[in-house]
Amino acid sequence: MAARILDGKALAASIRAELATKVAALKAKHRITPGIAVLLVGEDPASQIYVRNKAKAATEVGFFAREVKLTATATEREVLAAVDAFNKDDAIDGFLVQLPLPPQVDPQRVIDAVDPAKDADGFHVTNAGLVFQARGGVAPATPLGCMALIKLARTDLTGLEAVVIGRSNTVGKPVAQLLLKEHCTVTIAHSKSKDLAAIARRADILVAAVGRSELVRGHWIKPGAVVIDVGINRGADGKVRGDVAFDEAVEIAGAITPVPGGVGPMTIACLLQNTLMLCERRRALN
Ligand code: GUN
Repeated sequence: MAARILDGKALAASIRAELATKVAALKAKHRITPGIAVLLVGEDPASQIYVRNKAKAATEVGFFAREVKLTATATEREVLAAVDAFNKDDAIDGFLVQLPLPPQVDPQRVIDAVDPAKDADGFHVTNAGLVFQARGGVAPATPLGCMALIKLARTDLTGLEAVVIGRSNTVGKPVAQLLLKEHCTVTIAHSKSKDLAAIARRADILVAAVGRSELVRGHWIKPGAVVIDVGINRGADGKVRGDVAFDEAVEIAGAITPVPGGVGPMTIACLLQNTLMLCERRRALN
């Protein structure tokens, strides 16, 4: 029997609708409009699309959205000055610096300069540490989106075997922490792991976030597993494929996210959720 398709587009729309209701209530009760800002450095076409989509989604749920653009030749000092301006701007509750940055700008230095209390991406080491210790830090949006999709398929994750393929600071490591917090037994595997297929086959929950087109094959999947595909790989034919060979996996998994339309749409919805949480915290609303 083919797997249940976990529809990220629909779930993201319902999260945005819920956010819009909450924002309307904030405005009515406290005269507060949550503010989000995005800093874009350079003209990377994919980044331009991401930033436009973030601003559009933010405005649609009722946020105030600010977009600041610097040219690809901006110096690190100029980027840090823009970050500092967001840190000090009282209208901004959360912001992010779109990655990648041009080569003359060190992304680590820029992320380190973000006020953790306004870190909508959850990339600052303070938030990463708080998430690591399950102490309520801001988790990055894509891992939060993965968790919400997993919860569509399984409400109680206690004791389940979870395998994460990928060890990035933005997806692999934080999603592993969130799964651990839900009492899964978690394995982090990666491109250099020995016998990835055997490790993957243990998984009740398999998260593929390695950035290799269709690496995960049908025979890697335990029958009935929940499969979350974070990959967005554009092939030479222009088609976008995930890290999972979907047509094979859908026949074996219990539930699976499509690419596109799975994890992708969830990232912006969870980014907005993070920003609203930061707004409520910063303005001491709960
Ligand atoms: N570039 C691609 N995805 C992301 C993201 O989630 N956050 C930031 N800041 N840059 C990105």
